[in-house]
Amino acid sequence: MDLAELNKVANAMVAPGKGILAADESGGTIQKRFTAIGVESTDYTRRDYRELLFRSAKAMTDHISGVILFDETIRQKAADGTPLVKLIEQAGSVPGIKVDKGAKPLAFCPGETITEGLDGLRERLVEYRNLGAKFCKWRAVIDIGPGIPSYDCVHSNAHALARYAALCQEENLVPIVEPEVLMDGDHDMDRCLEVTEFVQKAVFQELYYAKVKLEGIVLKPNMIVPGKKCAKQVSDAEIAEKTLRVLKECVPPAVPGIAFLSGGQSDVEATARLDAMNKIGGAPWKLSFSYGRALQAAPQKAWGGKTGNVAAAQDAFAHRARMNGLASLGQWQREMEKAA
Ligand code: 13P
Repeated sequence: MDLAELNKVANAMVAPGKGILAADESGGTIQKRFTAIGVESTDYTRRDYRELLFRSAKAMTDHISGVILFDETIRQKAADGTPLVKLIEQAGSVPGIKVDKGAKPLAFCPGETITEGLDGLRERLVEYRNLGAKFCKWRAVIDIGPGIPSYDCVHSNAHALARYAALCQEENLVPIVEPEVLMDGDHDMDRCLEVTEFVQKAVFQELYYAKVKLEGIVLKPNMIVPGKKCAKQVSDAEIAEKTLRVLKECVPPAVPGIAFLSGGQSDVEATARLDAMNKIGGAPWKLSFSYGRALQAAPQKAWGGKTGNVAAAQDAFAHRARMNGLASLGQWQREMEKAA
């Protein structure tokens, strides 16, 4: 393991004014997104769509530090034959890869999942590194509901995340450690806070047992928000304040950066809350983004599968990338959204 190199890449992933584009939707998820905009999901349409994003020169160069790819995409070539990975590198962004194999039902824990993909992971990491990946992602999913999450679910997922992270570091790849507490359901903000704190504590304990070096990871957590169906929604300021408070309790300052997932928040909510955290300031780590939906919903809608809409889709992507880049510095203003 070359910890200095891992630390360099981790810092680049959360460089000031930049964040990560999560474009690693699995086959099923991208199909769902394409169906919503009336586009058939084929290897060509998926390639065309992702090529459009990676060729958005200004967004990529100025605001996207890294891109998380899916297995199919890291092997794909643009229409002119250039590997998509090259397009990302040419924009000065770092290619990464989702390496988990998805959340599967956890035995004896109805309604809960364990993320799979550890078997054979070392060999897959070597292959991905040779394909150009510099970092990886593994997502653990924790749902909140009556009687859940169980200790078994939290502990099993934390343990798997730590085993994944150690394997990545051994292969000189920066692990994005993503324990996502879902915002589905009607639970209130305090319940999200309590569960997130428990999950983060478990994850960092397991990372320690697995000998993972915190200077060489990026943490990708959820923000502390009320469930989508909770009657009591709260202000962006309260979300920012509670999220920061919990992360300070749980995340050692050796971690270079925290890149939030958007998790179903609206585009502007995800931006406003990240900005609010950076306006509070004083955090020992960089606070940035690793958004999927909050960066891509607008360009997907603008594109709709039509070649004639590529420029409009790139503009929409560039706008969200810039807004989130500013939020990562605490320099976003709501009026900037209206102006656009
Ligand atoms: P969302 O920002 O859409 O939650 O996606 C981020 C991600 O990579 C989830 O694993």
